[in-house]
Amino acid sequence: MINIGPYQLDGEAVLAPMAGITDQPFRQVCHRMGAAMVTAEMSTSKADLRQTSKSLLRLADAADSEPRVIQIVGTDPAEMAIAARYHVDAGAQIVDINMGCPAKKVCKKLAGSALMKNPSLVADILKQVVDSVDVPVTLKIRTGWDLENRNAVQIARMAEDIGIQSLAVHGRSRACRFNGLAEYDTIAEVVAAVNIPVFANGDINSGQNAQKVLNHTAASGVMVGRAAQGRPWIFAEINQYLNPLPKNAQKTSTNRPGCFTAWQKSLILEHLELIHDYYARFETQNLLHRGAKRSTINKDQAIDLAVKISRKHVCWYFNQMVQCASNLMKEHTSDFSVATSSCLVAENQAIKTIEIAKKQFNTLLVAKDQQQFLKQFFSETNLKGDIAA
Ligand SMILES: Cc1cc2nc3c(=O)[nH]c(=O)nc-3n(C[C@H](O)[C@H](O)[C@H](O)COP(=O)(O)O)c2cc1C
Repeated sequence: MINIGPYQLDGEAVLAPMAGITDQPFRQVCHRMGAAMVTAEMSTSKADLRQTSKSLLRLADAADSEPRVIQIVGTDPAEMAIAARYHVDAGAQIVDINMGCPAKKVCKKLAGSALMKNPSLVADILKQVVDSVDVPVTLKIRTGWDLENRNAVQIARMAEDIGIQSLAVHGRSRACRFNGLAEYDTIAEVVAAVNIPVFANGDINSGQNAQKVLNHTAASGVMVGRAAQGRPWIFAEINQYLNPLPKNAQKTSTNRPGCFTAWQKSLILEHLELIHDYYARFETQNLLHRGAKRSTINKDQAIDLAVKISRKHVCWYFNQMVQCASNLMKEHTSDFSVATSSCLVAENQAIKTIEIAKKQFNTLLVAKDQQQFLKQFFSETNLKGDIAA
């Protein structure tokens, strides 16, 4: 069991913060699929940017599962401390500090992973943030500045001494950005060096892989980012792999990882609805805030952002469906008993159908049409043959 301050996590797999992706609807879906903890998108520590619509969207909100985690990014210790207090006052139950993001926009201000180059500034930031709030403060880092300067162990020890209550370590240096494969040796060294929970992060994309990384690093848990895009059920897959049910118990969720079943389709539809509701509400509030009268707000205008956000997530779901059909095709191609059967033709056709549907979905301009389109697509898609087994 992983404890972060007073919070006991119900599992070992958590969702990685991803700006522009881990919005409130996606966090809700991932939590429902078994993510033991989800983090709101990173939020700048700059006070003058706190009231922009982008920042307001990034607040942890009451609909978030507990513990509600907010991530802050910045470079000025006093500013970071004020930002932490602001978010705690707004309901955050854990404050995470981002020293893992390699984005140029973030690093050129010596924030995010660039901070690892300056351990004394790191110490200052951590101290001031820890002292400013009475909730747990956690830290997300990379293995170091670059391959020659892997100082994650030094930063981790210092963080523990200052009072940081858990760490997430992405197995790449800042200079690696997202290139190459994540390495887990440095994460193992961090785990051995500290007594607080450590989440291993980087390229974890299956239950088997999660188990391997846990075995290699002895980390308390894993943090999953990109593999959850279009595949939030990866958390259920990891949980089932790490904690298999007794042989005679009935499995409830992902019986065949990678295949689309009815409940996955209804989850996608629910996700779409959550996006539409959340952003429509947000946009309406935003317009009211800017002085618009409720009676004059055009519903379609309020939902415009939702339609755009939906395209991104639904596109990832379509990609997963293609992946699923390709996997089935590969399985059948290597199985000589069915290689000549109609399976391959059906799967090939399924891939084309999904690709066409993806293009059509992206042309839809209204939330209602997006929902209708997906419902129809799923109802016309034969569970047994087209995209699922
Ligand atoms: C689009 C995108 C946005 C990200 N935004 C953040 C962020 O805001 N804060 C952060 O600490 N890491 C951020 N990351 C890094 C991820 O949290 C994670 O460390 C990284 O993707 C490696 O994990 P993965 O291989 O499971 O994706 C982001 C990654 C991606 C792909």
